[in-house]
Amino acid sequence: MNFLVRRARVSDAAALPAIERSAAGLFRCDPSLAWLADAEVPDVARHQRAIEQDDVWVAESVDGALMGFVSAGEIDNELHIQELSVSQYFQGRGAGRKLLLAAIECARDRELHGLTLTTFRDVPWNEVFYQRMGFETLGAADVGPRLTKVLNDETAHGLPGERRCAMRISL
Ligand SMILES: CC(C)(COP(=O)(O)OP(=O)(O)OC[C@H]1O[C@@H](n2cnc3c(N)ncnc32)[C@H](O)[C@@H]1OP(=O)(O)O)[C@@H](O)C(=O)NCCC(=O)NCCS
Repeated sequence: MNFLVRRARVSDAAALPAIERSAAGLFRCDPSLAWLADAEVPDVARHQRAIEQDDVWVAESVDGALMGFVSAGEIDNELHIQELSVSQYFQGRGAGRKLLLAAIECARDRELHGLTLTTFRDVPWNEVFYQRMGFETLGAADVGPRLTKVLNDETAHGLPGERRCAMRISL
């Protein structure tokens, strides 16, 4: 499928909550995670702020439909991936991979030291996908205070901590 990945514009923000909700529908196939499909997602205003202050890219089909987005923030000389979502209709067509590559390329251009993220260990479109993209799963000794806080916050919001991991790619 033909699509491009470009920097998000503020006017894209309105479409992003629905993309994230649709993407999360994928978790319905795992009964223990199905609740994520109905969980609250960041609102339009929050996406607008992220587009203005952080790094957000969208994948756009040739006919102008927004397929997915990745949002990231620079911290400690690294780019942290906050969210990667592709709406269900468009999944499996390479948009997720291309969005992630845009973030990696940006971090490389800025001469950052790496990228980080947190994700599910045992979900086929999470940890193993990022490993295929070059990310390494961090052991307890390497997670560090920043990512430990991210993982703890996720647990406080109901995510199963034993199934979450932090990952990093060095540049
Ligand atoms: C993760 C996600 C963004 C991938 O987007 P996508 O456009 O479907 O991904 P792509 O088509 O580029 O495929 C990326 C890889 O994921 C794998 N993948 C995608 N959907 C999959 C599925 N349902 N089951 C298993 N693997 C899957 C593909 O095989 C592909 O692997 P490869 O490139 O190494 O061959 C998408 O599945 C999604 O939005 N999921 C729900 C939200 C989520 O989990 N976000 C990540 C949070 S850390």
